[in-house]
Amino acid sequence: AAPTRYEAENATISQGVVESNHAGYSGTGFVNGDNVAGSYTEWTVNAPSAGTATLAFRYANGTGADRPSDIAVNGATVAAARSFPATGAWTTWTTVTLTAQLTAGANKIRATATGAGGNPNWDYLDA
Ligand code: GCU
Ligand code: CA
Repeated sequence: AAPTRYEAENATISQGVVESNHAGYSGTGFVNGDNVAGSYTEWTVNAPSAGTATLAFRYANGTGADRPSDIAVNGATVAAARSFPATGAWTTWTTVTLTAQLTAGANKIRATATGAGGNPNWDYLDA
């Protein structure tokens, strides 16, 4: 089935804010997490049935350094320190995908910054 788009500006944010000062995002803005390890954005993804899903994170990283993030599904890490490489500019958005097992119904997808630089800026999660 076609994925559903979950905008980051509608997600739960711990240590971060919704902003719109870098063009190219979907929806009404993006999440700028605080530049600190442990800051996170958590999406609630509704899966019609249990099984393997593709998670596509759209992000921008205008620094010259990676912004690794732990990706967890319902509290279990499924991709530790997943790489979110530099995109060249804060207005340059790209997508990183991974697969994960989801349960039927609501699933909590959390991306937690592992480095002192924090997460990249999040635009959306397609799942
Ligand atoms: C800049 C940029 C922010 C970004 C931040 C960062 O301040 O404007 O959108 O989140 O850098 O380094 O994380
Ligand atoms: Ca930031």
